[in-house]
Amino acid sequence: MSLSQLARSIKESVTLKLNETAALLREKGEPVIHLGGGEPKTKVPIDAVINCTSLLNTGEIRYTPPDGIPSLKKAIIRYTEEHYKKVVSAHNLIASGGAKQALMVLLHAILDPKEEVIFPAPYWVSYPEMVKLAGGVPVPVTAEDGSFCPTVKEIADVVSSYTKAIIINSPNNPSGVMYSKDFIQEMVEFCEKKSIYLIMDDIYNRLVFNGKTAPICYDFVKAPFEQSKLIVINGVSKMYAMTGFRIGWAIANEELIAAMATIQSQQTSGPSAPSQWAAVGALNGVQSAIDSLRLTLENNRTVMMDRLKAFDGVKVHAPDGTFYCFPDFSAYIKDSQKLSKLLLDEVRVVTVPGKEFGFEGHLRLSYCGTVRDITEGLDRIKWALDPNSPNELYLGDRKLVREWV
Ligand SMILES: Cc1ncc(COP(=O)(O)O)c(C=O)c1O
Repeated sequence: MSLSQLARSIKESVTLKLNETAALLREKGEPVIHLGGGEPKTKVPIDAVINCTSLLNTGEIRYTPPDGIPSLKKAIIRYTEEHYKKVVSAHNLIASGGAKQALMVLLHAILDPKEEVIFPAPYWVSYPEMVKLAGGVPVPVTAEDGSFCPTVKEIADVVSSYTKAIIINSPNNPSGVMYSKDFIQEMVEFCEKKSIYLIMDDIYNRLVFNGKTAPICYDFVKAPFEQSKLIVINGVSKMYAMTGFRIGWAIANEELIAAMATIQSQQTSGPSAPSQWAAVGALNGVQSAIDSLRLTLENNRTVMMDRLKAFDGVKVHAPDGTFYCFPDFSAYIKDSQKLSKLLLDEVRVVTVPGKEFGFEGHLRLSYCGTVRDITEGLDRIKWALDPNSPNELYLGDRKLVREWV
């Protein structure tokens, strides 16, 4: 078969692949615990369901404008005003098939072949492949001190004449770290000075713990909005647990949004109409779903941190937000792919290898499942790695007895 160079150069999404593996094992009756997931398990807000089914009940489900229906645009404008204190117009935003598509059309709209996109490591697994899909070159930056956030100077050091954009994802997938206000301010000022696109991937910015809120990038923009190269990416997937609806959006200057809308119109046309109406329902409806999700995640995070502390060899930074943490397991096994495979094979726990996020020795663990998943999953991991744990472990009704060599 002759496939394009591009097709041959792109890796499949590891996280989606792991979902598939977990589902297949479960079908076979295996007692799998999924700590690799990237979606909350709470129900979709009722206002989203009502709005969506109202459209379905009309029986008239048609194409929509390529950049989204006016009602969704209105809801996003209101959301942006409320949470970012920023007034934008309908020409400043595009609704897409998830934040992922918003990012993809954005990269298509700004990148020429071989232009570079910088992002801090650890990074969301999709950034490198998405940049490559758009013809660009991914440039991850790792902090020299081993922390999860490089300094602006470290980022500035890799800027070249090919640099077109920098992506900042805070709170961050996979580390759960929320970058400081000073860092965001310096990034905004740096990109403005250098005339580099700054892409703020804010998909987790409502899922922040300890009563904190994420810094607002717009507070630091000095250029008039229509000349600004700042793009904010967002969506309903994470904050409303609406991953299956596939609605996200981008906010940017009018010219860029128009270019993105043209690309999207030829790529997929407008996002699915029922999903757009569901997103309108979620954005305009009762907002308690976000608070209750955040509280659940905050509690789950505490449970996970407490459990991880019981490992002698694990180093972990308590996440500021998201539903991930990114512990360092290198004291047990350095090769994270090998470690993740061992945990799946031996104790049926799904984890995501740190290597996929550009950070070896770590595993991404999600706490978006149940407390039972977290406690049992970590007990199993401890059994597999730590000689100080009890010798026996039950996987469902299967008894495992450890033999250390
Ligand atoms: C950092 C980051 N950005 C974007 C997305 C994509 O979200 P969506 O489901 O809206 O496409 C994800 C999903 O995992 C993510 O982790």
